[in-house]
Amino acid sequence: MSDFISDFWSHYVTILTLASILGCALLLWLTARSRGPSHDDNTTGHVWDEDLREMNNPMPRWWMGLFVLTIVFGLGYLVAYPGLGDYQGQLGWSTEGEYATNLAKANTALEPVYARYTTMPAEQVARDAEAMAIGERLFLNNCAQCHGSDARGSKGFPNLTDNDWLYGGAPATIQETIVHGRMGVMPPQAEAVGSGEDVKNLANYVLSLSGSPHDSVRAGLGKSKFTACAACHGIGGVGNQAMGAPNLTDKVWLHGFGQDAIISIINTGKTNQMPAQQGRLTEAQIHVLASYVWGLSNKPGAAQ
Ligand code: HEC
Ligand code: HEC
Repeated sequence: MSDFISDFWSHYVTILTLASILGCALLLWLTARSRGPSHDDNTTGHVWDEDLREMNNPMPRWWMGLFVLTIVFGLGYLVAYPGLGDYQGQLGWSTEGEYATNLAKANTALEPVYARYTTMPAEQVARDAEAMAIGERLFLNNCAQCHGSDARGSKGFPNLTDNDWLYGGAPATIQETIVHGRMGVMPPQAEAVGSGEDVKNLANYVLSLSGSPHDSVRAGLGKSKFTACAACHGIGGVGNQAMGAPNLTDKVWLHGFGQDAIISIINTGKTNQMPAQQGRLTEAQIHVLASYVWGLSNKPGAAQ
């Protein structure tokens, strides 16, 4: 309920809930007071199947008692637990709190499973079949929605199985990426570059850096404009892992390949975020995950 901006829904739910409970109580009280029209022989006068008569007896006391009990229980429950709009309940119970308690319990139970790996260097964990099976499951549950279940990524989400790194592929760097997350920012560069023609020429120069198909006349004209980019992408466009500026001289394109994709990035810039996992996963889980990710591109026989 706390996600709503106005109090309206909170009041709405509170009033509706209390009104239904009070309505039940009122109905119970009214029906108990009056026994309705009755004939001399204590029947309602309804007769079925020739001789079946409906008696007009009051409900048994224990039956009435059950009704009263449900009402008392309902009110007691609403005092103890959150059920009335924004009201938190006297016991302070919440689904979030219960989740946190269960998670802490599960993590404590799992500690012995991870204990072996916390003191092991990542390179060794990556060679441990059991650790990698755990790493794979952690990856599928926490990372695959963005990086793909095979970790090969997609447009905007980096491939973690190649040896091409925005921020660096050492186990400690991967671990830092997972713990704190990353925020890659390239501000729009159109003003620094000049006219639309200048941007197009520069885009062709960028393509030429990786030997990708390009217009070499335009590339020659655009070369001098690359000074606007070198501060981040490095002289010659080899990239800078300290700021996550991609290497432009390889054929790995995170945000799309070709003249139009590059023109668009120069004109509008790019912001891309990897969410921090600190707090979501334990230190030991992150260590196993970092080893797993490192292992993806450091397998014997993997593409270098
Ligand atoms: C919500 C989407 C999302 C989730 C979930 C996510 N990532 Fe990422 N990750 C990204 C994006 C986007 C980037 C690129 C950031 C950038 O471009 O600056 C990234 C970057 C990375 C990098 C750096 C790659 C490089 O080239 O340096 C690593 C390592 C990584 N993620 C691992 C993980 C792991 C492990 C998990 C699971 C715990 C995970 N990610 C979960 C979106 C996500
Ligand atoms: C302030 C630093 C900065 C400057 C200046 C900058 N870039 Fe970037 N650029 C980045 C970062 C960071 C990214 C990666 C964004 C992300 O996290 O995905 C990027 C991404 C790109 C990409 C996408 C690469 C891919 O793999 O898809 C291209 C192309 C690019 N920049 C070209 C340029 C050009 C051309 C210039 C000069 C006009 C330039 N950049 C200037 C920081 C910069």
